[in-house]
Amino acid sequence: MRLSIIAAVAANRVIGRNNRLPFHQSTDLKRFKALTMGHHVLMGRKTYGDDVAKPLPGRANVVITNNPSFAAQGVAIARSVDEAIAKAGASGDDEVFILGGGEIFRQTIHRADRMYITQIHAEVEGDTFFPEFDDVNEWHLTDREDFEADEKNEYPFSFLTYDRASDAAGNPVPFDEQGG
Ligand SMILES: NC(=O)c1ccc[n+]([C@@H]2O[C@H](COP(=O)([O-])OP(=O)(O)OC[C@H]3O[C@@H](n4cnc5c(N)ncnc54)[C@H](OP(=O)(O)O)[C@@H]3O)[C@@H](O)[C@H]2O)c1
Repeated sequence: MRLSIIAAVAANRVIGRNNRLPFHQSTDLKRFKALTMGHHVLMGRKTYGDDVAKPLPGRANVVITNNPSFAAQGVAIARSVDEAIAKAGASGDDEVFILGGGEIFRQTIHRADRMYITQIHAEVEGDTFFPEFDDVNEWHLTDREDFEADEKNEYPFSFLTYDRASDAAGNPVPFDEQGG
């Protein structure tokens, strides 16, 4: 099973403002749907509660929360990131998507296999950020497509795909906290 992060990230790493997405990029939303359709989507309770608010159709939604009384129809609930990943993995899904938000990205960025980052080429105001990451030792850019702003997309943007770096033997490079 491949564990994939999917996120839209501004030039200053902003991903959210007041519990909402701070940009509306129609082409990105279409791609998000195409990539995630039919798969498990894992998300923090704040992302579910404010951005999604009802299950994303055609996908197995898993909401991560510490709140024992959280309940929502049509979603599975997990008490930890590990539990969410285990639930999705047990289903036999070949690709599981981490939808965010900031807290969940921070807890998964060092164990994900792939990242689909929509880089928004603008600095936007916000209060939630995508974590910094090492695109030399830990991640390799494996695909890039660039787009101009147009009537459906407020800002110019790029679809960037990063895969976890491999060592000489082809094994994925684990995160090294010491940076060496
Ligand atoms: N640009 C993008 O691609 C993108 C994608 C997604 C979201 N966003 C934005 O990101 C913002 C939300 O992000 P956020 O960081 O505030 O919140 P979040 O990551 O969506 O959710 C945080 C919540 O998840 C639960 N949680 C986190 N870690 C947990 C753990 N280890 N075990 C159990 N539960 C855990 C907690 O829920 P409880 O409090 O219920 O315990 C916590 O309050 C919004 O502005 C949203 O629009 C942007």
